Amino acid sequence: MSSPHQRRPILAANWKMQKGAAEATAFAAAFLPLVAGADSVDIVIAPPFTALDRLGQALSGSAVALAAQNVNPEASGAFTGEIAVSMLRELGCGYGVVGHSERRALYRESSDFVAAKAEALLAAGIRPIVCVGETLEEREADRAEAIVAGQLEASLARIPQDRAAEVVVAYEPVWAIGTGKTATPEMAQAIHAFIRERLRALYGATAEIIRIQYGGSVKPENVRDIMSQEDIDGALVGGASLDPASFARIVLFQEPEATQ
Ligand code: PGA
Repeated sequence: MSSPHQRRPILAANWKMQKGAAEATAFAAAFLPLVAGADSVDIVIAPPFTALDRLGQALSGSAVALAAQNVNPEASGAFTGEIAVSMLRELGCGYGVVGHSERRALYRESSDFVAAKAEALLAAGIRPIVCVGETLEEREADRAEAIVAGQLEASLARIPQDRAAEVVVAYEPVWAIGTGKTATPEMAQAIHAFIRERLRALYGATAEIIRIQYGGSVKPENVRDIMSQEDIDGALVGGASLDPASFARIVLFQEPEATQ
């Protein structure tokens, strides 16, 4: 049987379109001492593209990995405004987020496109963090599992079994992102177990080592409960990752000190 301890927890900060290079560098200076002793978890920060270089330099020598928030699957060429995997690799990115719901919704990214990005990242030795998740409308129509299964299978379509262990899946219910509404730990666990089941169907025993992050209003106050669930192996954190003390508490599974 699987247990949370079989898989190394992975806590990732997704800064979205927040923090330029100077702010990212200041964040690293404050954050790194706070997590210096955290050696049983993987820590990842995904800043905007323009901060990757300087944040990467600030993180060098630490155990904190650098991630991109997006990538274009083409190797190079006439794709104005886009960034290729080789460029991310040059800056030392260890991970790349693909298929975030904001990209799916606001920029109409399909799961086929997400699959091409995940494949391109892996080919460059960068681990994809593949996001899936249903909207409130879809959940209320009892379609959450069908939506998540469809996104998952199509987004992983180009990942062969022998590379699947390098993929991280992030389940982020759209209705919980940036809203302060978190899925209850039990509700999240139910979908995570469902995702693990689908991963078993795709990859057999490798599914036991694929990490599945939860995302959507994760904060210091709820991370411990969320992480206590069997099939939740980490978190993808937006708002609460912007402050170094807050993200450090999340990484360390610490509750904030009671001040009120
Ligand atoms: P949030 O964002 O933590 O602000 O809800 C999570 C995400 O979108 O990755």
